[in-house]
Amino acid sequence: MNDGERTLDDLHLERVSKEYRGAAGSVSVLTDVNLRMRRGEALAIMGPSGAGKSTLLYIIGTLDAPTGGRVQIAGEDPFRLSEHELAAFRNRQIGFVFQDHHLLPQCTVWENVLIPTLACQSDAEVAAARDRADRLLTRVGLAQRKLHRPSELSGGERQRASVCRALIQQPRLLLADEPTGNLDRTTAQQIGSLLLEMCVEFETVLVTVTHSQELAARFPRRAELVDGRLREEP
Ligand SMILES: Nc1ncnc2c1ncn2[C@@H]1O[C@H](COP(=O)(O)OP(=O)(O)OP(=O)(O)O)[C@@H](O)[C@H]1O
Ligand SMILES: [Mg+2]
Repeated sequence: MNDGERTLDDLHLERVSKEYRGAAGSVSVLTDVNLRMRRGEALAIMGPSGAGKSTLLYIIGTLDAPTGGRVQIAGEDPFRLSEHELAAFRNRQIGFVFQDHHLLPQCTVWENVLIPTLACQSDAEVAAARDRADRLLTRVGLAQRKLHRPSELSGGERQRASVCRALIQQPRLLLADEPTGNLDRTTAQQIGSLLLEMCVEFETVLVTVTHSQELAARFPRRAELVDGRLREEP
C-alpha cells in the first residue's frame, strides 16, 4: 500500500517487530505481528509471562516504537509525528487501563477522570468535559463517590474510575493491561463486563491483555502471543 491509500481499519499493525538492544545483548520480542481492528471490536491477548504482551500493547498505545513494520491508528502512522504531536495524538485517541489503577492519590475521583482533558482551552470544552465525566461516573455507578479520593474506594471502584479516565476523551482505542489482575473473581467479572460494554457503547477498539482464561473467553476475538508471534483464534 502506498501512502496515498489510507486503511479503513481503526487499528492496523503490519509486520510489527520489536527487538531490545542493550549492553547485555539483544532480545527479540515481537516478530511480524499483524492485526486489523475496527471500532466496536474487542480482542483479548493471552500468552505466557515474558511473551511480549505488554510490549505489544505499549506499541499499539504509541508509548514505545516498533523496531520494524508499521502501525496505523485511524489511518495515521503515529510514529511519524513529532514528540509533541504524538503526545497530543495519544491523549486524544488512546485510553489506558492498567493493572494498578494509576490514579493520583491527592486528587478526587472526579479530578482524576478529568486529568486527560486539562489541556482543554475554551469554557465550552471544559464544560463539555465535566459533563462527560459526570455521565461516565454515573454510568459506572460512581456518581456518589466523585468527591472521594482513590484511597477511599475499593479496588473494583478504583478500576471503574480508571475506565472513566480512559474514556473521557472519547478515544478510538481502549487498551487494558491485566485490568483484572488485582481483583477478586466477582469484581474481575464486573470490570470485564464494563470494558466490553464500553467498547460497544463508545465505539472504541478494545485490546485487553489478560492471564485470565475466564475473561478472555468472553471476548469476541482472542489471540495468543507465543514466540513473538500473534496467533488469533479462528
Ligand atoms: N527495556 C527492555 N530491555 C530488554 N528487554 C526487555 C525490556 N523490556 C522488556 N524486555 C523483555 O521483553 C520480553 C517481553 O516483556 P513483556 O513485559 O512485554 O512481557 P509480558 O508478556 O507482558 O509478560 P507478563 O505476562 O509477565 O506481564 C521479556 O523477556 C522482557 O524481559
Ligand atoms: Mg505484561
